Amino acid sequence: MPENKIEIKNLYVSFGSNQVINNLDLIVRKGETKVVIGRSGVGKSVLLKCIVGILKPDQGSIKIDGVEVTDLKEKDYNKLRMKMGMVFQGGALFDSMTVEENVTFVLNEFFNFDPRVVYDRMKESLAMVGLQGLGRLSPAKLSGGMKKRVGIARALCMEPELILYDEPTDEVDPVTGDSLTNLINKLRDKLNVTSVVVTHDMSAAYKVGDNIAMLYRGKVIADGTPEEIRNTHHPVVQQFVNGKARGPIMDDENLLLDYGV
Ligand SMILES: Nc1ncnc2c1ncn2[C@@H]1O[C@H](COP(=O)(O)OP(=O)(O)O)[C@@H](O)[C@H]1O
Ligand SMILES: [Mg+2]
Repeated sequence: MPENKIEIKNLYVSFGSNQVINNLDLIVRKGETKVVIGRSGVGKSVLLKCIVGILKPDQGSIKIDGVEVTDLKEKDYNKLRMKMGMVFQGGALFDSMTVEENVTFVLNEFFNFDPRVVYDRMKESLAMVGLQGLGRLSPAKLSGGMKKRVGIARALCMEPELILYDEPTDEVDPVTGDSLTNLINKLRDKLNVTSVVVTHDMSAAYKVGDNIAMLYRGKVIADGTPEEIRNTHHPVVQQFVNGKARGPIMDDENLLLDYGV
């Protein structure tokens, strides 16, 4: 059995003239939580979409459990997706459905499971995220943190070996963010899953990451333990993790500094 859950080599993704992923390499080992950090728009969600196969890269290799997935047929990819849980940015919940229906949506819509299995998985997933008893509510009745938990329960319903989290702590207050990171860690320990957590929230990154990789200009420019990333001498990584406006990462926004804004 390969020891790497995910192996990405020489990956390229572009949209028109926008070369978003530009010769990216990344390895995620079995059982680890790999955090991918980087600024908004750098390509973090695009990278996750390539892993779940929603998006096809222009070039390069993605191996999951040693299997090349970039040229898999949809039917075969679906088999692989049965072992993955994706927690979408913003939750992607339907307000017209109950929490229970949201949690079982993917299983019911795309896979042909016995309804009793789906029901049991739904109950168990809601319990794991601490939302037992709330399944009949509409997501609109829930707080931001609870909505995030519903999104996580939906991923857990797949009984995944691999969980992909897209910005699990954005748009929630720091206290809620902290309890969500606790949940991510608890799930890793309880389920022995491999996780990829995409975020620009450094406190979440340090808390959940066994390793942290930084994405910049289409590539992974650093990959190390939270300690290594915290103490990095790489000027771009340093600027990002310390949240400084001034540094080698300059754009229209921080150029305003020069005008005293
Ligand atoms: N479907 C798409 N069509 C065109 N451009 C896209 C598409 N998806 C993402 N992009 C572009 O790719 C870049 C990276 O986006 P994304 O991965 O969403 O960034 P983030 O790191 O904030 O998650 C952005 O410039 C975005 O505009
Ligand atoms: Mg994103």
